[in-house]
Amino acid sequence: MQRDCRDGARSDRGRWQAGGVNAINIASLLGKFDEHWSPKKIAELNDYEIKLVKVLGEFVWHTHEDTDELFLVISGRLTIQLRDGDVVLEPGELYVVPRGVEHCPRAEVETAAMLIEPRGVVNTGDAGGPLTAVVQPLS
Ligand code: NI
Repeated sequence: MQRDCRDGARSDRGRWQAGGVNAINIASLLGKFDEHWSPKKIAELNDYEIKLVKVLGEFVWHTHEDTDELFLVISGRLTIQLRDGDVVLEPGELYVVPRGVEHCPRAEVETAAMLIEPRGVVNTGDAGGPLTAVVQPLS
């Protein structure tokens, strides 16, 4: 019998099961929510969370003292304002805000993005306030 990567994965890690395991479809998940600035967890990677978020308008200036924060734009256009200048992300582009760097995302059109950051990161960082969101799982 031929063995391939899937066979190996099935026997070694038990991740593949009869009937198959579905891929996580980002477009499908983006169709399941509308609210802005409220990240949804779609996967975990060790101690990290992979999240989807829709944004429109301006967020709040804040800093994450303990972690970098990755933004990957899926649709729309995201401007990450930094005190040293703006980073503008088009679909397919990403930027990592280094830990301790103050930033304020802004979107003039509705924008969908993926976020990758450690579990438990608060979206408003040190700023807090009404835009602070509790991350909900989405599947
Ligand atoms: Ni942030």
